[in-house]
Amino acid sequence: MRSLHLLIGLAVIITSRAATPELRFAWKQVDYVWETPEQKETAVKDGTFVQATNLPLGLARWKNKLFVTVPRWKNGVASSLNYVDVDGAQDQLLKPYPSLKDNLVPDTAKELPSNSSIISVFRVFVDACDRLWVMDSGLADILGSPNQVAGPSIVVFDLNTDQLLHRYFFKVTDMKEDSFFANIVVDVDKDSCDSAFAYVPDLGGYGVVVYSLKDNDSWRVSHHYFHFEPLSGSFNVSGIEFHWTDGVFSLALSEPRDNGYRTMFFHAFASTKEFCVSTELLRNYSHIDKNEAFHDFKLLGDRGANTQASASFYDTKNHVLFYTQVNRDGVGCWNSNKPYSPETNPLIINDPELYEFPNDLKVDDEDTLWILSDKLPRYMFKSLDANEVNYRIFSINVKDAIAGTACE
Ligand SMILES: *[C@@H]1O[C@H](CO)[C@@H](O)[C@H](O)[C@H]1NC(C)=O
Ligand SMILES: *[C@@H]1O[C@H](CO)[C@@H](O)[C@H](O)[C@H]1NC(C)=O
Ligand SMILES: *[C@@H]1O[C@H](CO)[C@@H](O)[C@H](O)[C@H]1NC(C)=O
Ligand SMILES: *[C@@H]1O[C@H](CO)[C@@H](O)[C@H](O)[C@H]1NC(C)=O
Repeated sequence: MRSLHLLIGLAVIITSRAATPELRFAWKQVDYVWETPEQKETAVKDGTFVQATNLPLGLARWKNKLFVTVPRWKNGVASSLNYVDVDGAQDQLLKPYPSLKDNLVPDTAKELPSNSSIISVFRVFVDACDRLWVMDSGLADILGSPNQVAGPSIVVFDLNTDQLLHRYFFKVTDMKEDSFFANIVVDVDKDSCDSAFAYVPDLGGYGVVVYSLKDNDSWRVSHHYFHFEPLSGSFNVSGIEFHWTDGVFSLALSEPRDNGYRTMFFHAFASTKEFCVSTELLRNYSHIDKNEAFHDFKLLGDRGANTQASASFYDTKNHVLFYTQVNRDGVGCWNSNKPYSPETNPLIINDPELYEFPNDLKVDDEDTLWILSDKLPRYMFKSLDANEVNYRIFSINVKDAIAGTACE
């Protein structure tokens, strides 16, 4: 009996111990694939490349490419949109996408050199139609001498040919004075690629911009739930305390519901609550009664203290919403078949050193969860130590990640 109990006990321990993600990429500092050594030398000399300011932030996987974005927080970011080879070395050079020429734009530029130029990207999205959707904020040297090189635009590339498919600049009516567009999710089915919709959160202006590819038109959706929570704006990461007012930032799309429309899960960055709304409402927003529609935005619940999340991704196969936990150095999740509470939102991955500011995460079409951590608060408020690993990317199979947790 005793040994049977012991065996059962062991089995429970083994199955309930969350699997450990694999470290796939790690950098002290990042560098790029240059056309010639002289080109890099010149860029360093004239300040177009200041290695220490190049901080990876967003990611997305397509086949053997893992896209890694480097926004222009400070001066000297050589290339904002890049990828690494999934099967390549851990500390490999970033490859500018679609080319270095399209990314190597001086911080003081007055206009886009070409229609496929990329100024500053936070997050990207790979859709079911082999396209890369890029939200280019158009703003260089954000924390230094901000320079709006071009207005915010959505840039779409064909991943099979690496050609620019489309570039759309937001309308004046899509923006507010403090608008900032740093994320993008795309709502599309494989068999109707032309009818894609992109949803872009405005974390500074507290709204969501909807873009219809078919109509080549955009509109702005407003709601109270897009604002930040005044009592959840304090963060404490690696002993650095800071206060942010970021509104809606994380968007995640469910599988299509019975009516054919997906649910969009969303939350403000400075918040511990999760909300949802049907994409039917977002798409029809110009034609509906806004007052009646107010109640179609739903509160799901609260995750509990210190659970602010910079990114989320909904895995349609397991019905699990994954999200970063910046104050808790890890990743949390919620199984959408369960009610929303602290108990149903376990912290499944956690390590203060490895996951110091988990910034972005995505699930690819091979059921792999990718996580990027980048020590952003140190970069912004102190400085990074170039002698230690500062940026890491991990991967783990989704089923392994949730095994034995409340998300299973
Ligand atoms: C981009 O510019 C090139 C050259 O001016 C032009 O041939 C191409 O059609 C443009 N592409 C898009 C998607 O606007
Ligand atoms: C999309 O709309 C913009 C105006 O908002 C226009 O400048 C652009 O040419 C249009 N693109 C296409 C492909 O119709
Ligand atoms: C922030 O967290 C550190 C531990 O990492 C703790 O020592 C410190 O007291 C916290 N600061 C605040 C203001 O909560
Ligand atoms: C949204 O628009 C579609 C097509 O015009 C219509 O069938 C549907 O009833 C509308 N839904 C709402 C909630 O207004």
